[in-house]
Amino acid sequence: MHEEDKIWARNVLARITEKMEKVSVRSADKIPYTTENGVHDDWSGDDKIGWWTNGFWGGMMWQMYELTGQERYKAVAESVERKLDRVLMDAQSMDHDSGFKWLPTSVNNYRLTGDPASRNRALLAANNLAGRFNHAGQFIRAWNDWGGNGPDRRGWAIIDCMMNLPLLYWASEETKDPRFAQTAMRHADTAARCFVREDGSVNHIVEFDVDSGEMVRSYGGQGYGDGSSWTRGQAWGLYGFAQSFRHTGKREYLDTAMRIADYFIAHIPESGLIPVDFCQPAEPAWEDSTAAAIAASGLLEIRQLLGEKKKESAGSAENGPGEDGRKYLEAAARLLRALTERRVNWDDAADNLLEKCTAAYHDKNHEFSIIYGDYYLIEALMKLAL
Ligand code: GLY
Repeated sequence: MHEEDKIWARNVLARITEKMEKVSVRSADKIPYTTENGVHDDWSGDDKIGWWTNGFWGGMMWQMYELTGQERYKAVAESVERKLDRVLMDAQSMDHDSGFKWLPTSVNNYRLTGDPASRNRALLAANNLAGRFNHAGQFIRAWNDWGGNGPDRRGWAIIDCMMNLPLLYWASEETKDPRFAQTAMRHADTAARCFVREDGSVNHIVEFDVDSGEMVRSYGGQGYGDGSSWTRGQAWGLYGFAQSFRHTGKREYLDTAMRIADYFIAHIPESGLIPVDFCQPAEPAWEDSTAAAIAASGLLEIRQLLGEKKKESAGSAENGPGEDGRKYLEAAARLLRALTERRVNWDDAADNLLEKCTAAYHDKNHEFSIIYGDYYLIEALMKLAL
């Protein structure tokens, strides 16, 4: 079964690489978020450069570099990374999404080339992220206040932050200073306690009292409503806890990742295509392909971690039958096949890969292309192809 999946994933990646050869030339000077009539937009201007998704195009260029070895992808990725320096120098633009911005860009660059400037950027971002920790509530503050009559967000944490924690783990591994990982683990412990429900579904936003640290309430956030199950939040959760386990070895994180993953898998519709929220009404049947791509990559992460554990403890009774991760592999392959057969735009005149991505259930617009969907689609396929 896995051999068949591997060959399939390699073939799909070859097709994507062919398309990206053209797209990367057209969009070499941009930092895209979405497409308008098939053409990437550009978020590198001063008013948009702080947007949380601005690391993914650089990350896609590193993916293409790893797949092809072609230097021109490296050049585009490095130019995105340099553009993000404006964000590092702007306290108001720096929020908890530093992981999303500097893991795909600077940490990748440093991993692949050893560039000390990239290490420096990633460490600055990690220090800023660690500085957002609220000691009373043991959580990392998500967003800043944007002025006007908006809500007081000082006590808000969101499930997405689980995906930013690997920047802190990386910083500890890189500097041998445990403070970053300690901060990440405290946040992960709080998230396991306050975000993950008994059935494995997760809250998007949790508000804490900034002085006492007590949990105040949860919000539906980008999902359908309070107590619902925003699918991208589920995906961030299962993937994020898996990564916390990868970096710390704390078994509770893997168990939590599996609990969220099991809930996700149990709710995958017959079509294999993922709605914006597992609790949304039947109509309108809005989809979010990003949730499918992120979940697929996270499920493959869990599967890989279980495989590694099994090898480590071969001969011991610790891993019972069923803990080899087969169900996670099968679910990931199912999601990826549904996406590539029905939701990828294979026309190489169009700049995007995934169609039908949705940022938030209650937004005005639904079902368009979003850059991080493409990034996680490629990432998941690269894992499956290994
Ligand atoms: N991190 C925000 C989102 O997933 O839309």
